[in-house]
Amino acid sequence: MKRQMKIKIRKFNISYKLDLLKIFNSGRKTGFFGSKKIVKLKDHNIFLKKKVLTKKTTVYLGFIDNNIKPFGFVRFDKLPKKDWFEMPVAIYPRFYNRGFGTKLMNLAIKRFNKAGKKTIIAVVKKNNHRSLKAFIKNKFKLLKTKKRKYYSINKFNIKKEYYLYLKSNN
Ligand SMILES: CC(C)(COP(=O)(O)OP(=O)(O)OC[C@H]1O[C@@H](n2cnc3c(N)ncnc32)[C@H](O)[C@@H]1OP(=O)(O)O)[C@@H](O)C(=O)NCCC(=O)NCCS
Repeated sequence: MKRQMKIKIRKFNISYKLDLLKIFNSGRKTGFFGSKKIVKLKDHNIFLKKKVLTKKTTVYLGFIDNNIKPFGFVRFDKLPKKDWFEMPVAIYPRFYNRGFGTKLMNLAIKRFNKAGKKTIIAVVKKNNHRSLKAFIKNKFKLLKTKKRKYYSINKFNIKKEYYLYLKSNN
C-alpha cells in the first residue's frame, strides 16, 4: 500500500521569500489568477513590505513530510470589510490532483481561524474545476444571489467567476 504523505504548514517568514515568489509565479502561469504576468523579485519585495510585514496579508506555506522546501502557499488578504479575507492558493503543478492542495487549505483555514471569527472568500474562474472542487471540499459555499456587494481584491466578474465564502463558526 502507498504510504500516506504528511502535510504540514508553517507561517511564512522572510527566509522563504524566493520560494513564495516561485510558487506564486507557477500559479500565475496557469492563467487562473487575475493576470498571467510573472511577478519580478522587485515587486515581490514591495508586496512583502506593504502587505505581509504590515499584517494585511497572512501567508502559510505547505510542506510535504520533512521537506525543507514548500510545495504551496495559502494567503489571507484583508478585505475592506471587518474580518473578511480573500484566500488565494497555489501549489506547484507537479503536485496537482493528489489531495495536497485541499489538505493545505484545510490546515491553513483552521490555523487562521484560531484567532477569531472570520469570513473567508475566494474568487474562482469558472473553468478552474480543480480549484472549485478543492474549495467545495473545504466547505466553501457558492454565493448565488446577484443582489449584493461582492467584496474582493480585484473586481469580481460574475460571468466568468464564482464567488465562494466560508464563515467560521467558532
Ligand atoms: C487549486 C489547487 C491549489 C488545488 O490543489 P490540488 O492539490 O491540485 O487539488 P486536490 O487534488 O486537493 O483536489 C482537486 C480535485 O479536483 C479534481 N479535478 C481535477 N481536475 C478536474 C477537472 N478538470 N474537472 C473536475 N474536477 C477536477 C480532482 O480529481 C480532485 O478531486 P477529488 O479529490 O474528488 O479527486 C492547485 O490545483 C493549484 O495550485 N492550481 C493553480 C493555481 C490556482 O488555480 N489557484 C486557485 C485560484 S482561485
